Amino acid sequence: MSAETKSIYSPREIPLSSARLSDFPNNPIACLQQVHEECGEIAQIQEDGSKIVCVFDPKLIQQVLTDSQRFHSHFFALRGAKKSSQRRLTNGLLTMNGDEHRQHRRMVMKPFALPSIPAYDSIAERLTSEMLEEWQVGDVRDLDAELTTLMRRLTSAVLFGMDYPELSEAIGHATDRWVRLNHDTGMAAYVSGSFSDQYEELLQLAADLEERIRDLLQKRRQSKELGQDVLSILMQAHGRDGSIDDSQLIGHITLLFGAAHLTTAHTLIWTLFQLAQSPSIMRQLDAELESTTPEERTWDDKTSWGYRVLRESMRTLPASAYLQRFCSEPVDLGAYHLPAGTGVLFSQYMTHHRPEIYEAPYEYRPERWDHISPTPYQYFPFGAGPRMCIGAPMAMRSMGSILPKILRTFRLTVVPDAEINANVISTMLAPTTPVPVQVHAPDGQFSASRITGSILSLVDLPEMPSLGALRKAA
Ligand code: HEM
Repeated sequence: MSAETKSIYSPREIPLSSARLSDFPNNPIACLQQVHEECGEIAQIQEDGSKIVCVFDPKLIQQVLTDSQRFHSHFFALRGAKKSSQRRLTNGLLTMNGDEHRQHRRMVMKPFALPSIPAYDSIAERLTSEMLEEWQVGDVRDLDAELTTLMRRLTSAVLFGMDYPELSEAIGHATDRWVRLNHDTGMAAYVSGSFSDQYEELLQLAADLEERIRDLLQKRRQSKELGQDVLSILMQAHGRDGSIDDSQLIGHITLLFGAAHLTTAHTLIWTLFQLAQSPSIMRQLDAELESTTPEERTWDDKTSWGYRVLRESMRTLPASAYLQRFCSEPVDLGAYHLPAGTGVLFSQYMTHHRPEIYEAPYEYRPERWDHISPTPYQYFPFGAGPRMCIGAPMAMRSMGSILPKILRTFRLTVVPDAEINANVISTMLAPTTPVPVQVHAPDGQFSASRITGSILSLVDLPEMPSLGALRKAA
């Protein structure tokens, strides 16, 4: 069959789902599940002349992730007018392609190379201790608020060489609001081709966030000599040799701060939540933590419970739930032909729940990692290929020190009857309501609580008491 006759515009070639593009932003995972169920391994969703191709087969995902020349990265967010704050904020690595991407990635990656990572341990340790000193037995704490604040501070200290809690909170809040509005307006524009009525608000939030980032730059310039942190490297490249321009500097800082603190906070929240709801796993992890010293507790040892728990958390509730690309030129994807400009979407959440790779895929079973070894395209919480997350080693190391410290200091239970909701916002699987936990002494009396909310449609925690069991116990 010739390339012309295989055009995606022929619905016989790539099955057309009955889902509409405008369904997607409300609940991306439910929409992808529907599309996969209806159409199989590749499908298109369309509306009003706009289309996205969804790819589910890991072999096709491999092609998309590895061929960065034809499958370009692109923000789904609105880019904004040429000289706007919105344009500058979206100018980070995720918008760059080709030589520009390679050159900037090399520069930004320097402080995240493996040998630099242990230097960040003491900062993670200090900031986690400070958070835990505020917690008292009997408190109810919202994991979302606590861990997001912790990660904002850690990210600011590690990435930018500055621990100014107020400034990192202010940038964090502004980033959060901006990310959420990007989700709504970006998808609305993609579907209807017109700007939504929230566009003006988005531009205002972008201007506000940029102002705060410029405050950070000014404070850093005034506070001390530039060092080896990523902000110093970027500022040197901007000021002295001019290899990055003003707009790229703002874009890199925005992406690094958002990508680093939100994803890591969400992974910590989902891990603590799933552990609190899985008493028998928690007992085994606790025994391991008790028999090792903090120095011995490295969660990158594949035989440890810590390693399996974290890997399984990033499988069941991956902080990055889907990724997207655009075809920079016409391309054959497996047996299909995609014209230039086609949007391609693929999902970690969907891939991590394929039953032929993961038995009982919705169940949280850390022990499965003893006998499975998926390929990098069957399990990719940090992406894969030339755009794989540059912060993965740092994120794993910091989570591997923060989690044991929390779990050794307190026992956590989810507040009974809490409604815990989650949704995908700008590709990230995030809590959309608080995740309240009760703080107990570390007495080993682990127990799950009955809860409600949309989280129950995303992960199956078999030890959670049903309403009937609770009534019986009462
Ligand atoms: C658990 C935590 C994290 C998760 C789950 C995560 C996930 C991801 C994923 C899936 C990608 C690939 C995006 C794509 O292919 O389109 C990515 C890219 C990226 N991540 Fe992370 N990330 C995490 C932590 C971090 C940290 C700590 C940093 C900063 C130090 C960071 C900075 C970046 C950057 C700059 C990119 C873009 C790379 C490029 O386009 O070349 N991430 N991340």
